[in-house]
Amino acid sequence: MDVFVSLQAKIEQLRDNVGKTPLDLIERADGNSIYAKLEYFNPLSHSVKDRPAVWMIHGAISRGEIRRGDEIFIEASSGNLGVAYGEIGRRLGLGVHIIVPSVCGETTIARIQRTGAFCERSPDGFCPRGERDGARAKAKDAWLTNPGRYKWLNQYSNEDNPRAHEEATGPEIWNQTRGSVTTAVIGTGTGGSIVGISRFLKMSGPEVEIVAVTPEEGHHIHGVRSIDETDSVPIIQENKRLVDRWVEIGDAEAFEATKTLWSMGYPVGTSSGLNHAASRRIAKEEAGRVIVTLFPDSWLNSFKTMQEYLTMGKMVRRDFTRTTIDRC
Ligand SMILES: Cc1ncc(COP(=O)(O)O)c(C=O)c1O
Repeated sequence: MDVFVSLQAKIEQLRDNVGKTPLDLIERADGNSIYAKLEYFNPLSHSVKDRPAVWMIHGAISRGEIRRGDEIFIEASSGNLGVAYGEIGRRLGLGVHIIVPSVCGETTIARIQRTGAFCERSPDGFCPRGERDGARAKAKDAWLTNPGRYKWLNQYSNEDNPRAHEEATGPEIWNQTRGSVTTAVIGTGTGGSIVGISRFLKMSGPEVEIVAVTPEEGHHIHGVRSIDETDSVPIIQENKRLVDRWVEIGDAEAFEATKTLWSMGYPVGTSSGLNHAASRRIAKEEAGRVIVTLFPDSWLNSFKTMQEYLTMGKMVRRDFTRTTIDRC
């Protein structure tokens, strides 16, 4: 069979299989209902990043940008997109090269490597900014130096990233709440989730409020960026009007909320705690809202950090550009 036809068929099947995640009523708080999309039900990386990974590779294949099938997908990722890419690469027979910030733990790196992808570290923290984003710079350099060999889809400015959420996550939220959602509370990394969800929800129910959740500066939460860091994220910069307001949550509050979610039986990562803490804060403002948030990933990437937090009862601050751990 023609390489292109076979790739197209396989990626379409994957696109049918990602998403459609459960929407769970987490709690009723201060006269509001708080629901969460359990994104760890996604089949490839057990995270929300299955959606943009599949949409971006689908887009590239559909536009005829990948014809030979021997291109290597190169991307900077703090973990989940890397795992999703790796799994897609394994299923489609495509090469994948992921550059992760050194802040990523051994588990995250091992998860990427287990897919058969090549994984390289760059000495960055969780929120490298602009020029300091070494992982992104490395991916771009490899692609510029050898564009025939590497394919860099650049999740930070690829329209297929928000499109995944506009075509799937947003409609799922609308349908699962039967159009009753009043407030969407979404963490921001590349901005794909919030921009895509906002596009759909504001078209369906113009009154829906879109709240961006951001961690504090120098945070320890996997997958999200602080508000300052979003300066260097084109998808957010170009779509600021789609965000009604920003809520900042500190590490301690996010970790406590994660602990609570674990005790309720949700095996989530710390960014779910971040989103849940923000949803609770919003619930305190007024009653009668239907708040929907995302639980973006499972506890796989943040398990060790949370275990340290739970056993020591305090934050463990790491200097991720070195390998030392110092406590505060
Ligand atoms: C684990 C994880 N990955 C990714 C994201 C961000 O997604 P996006 O890149 O769509 O902004 C989040 C946001 O909360 C997250 O928690």
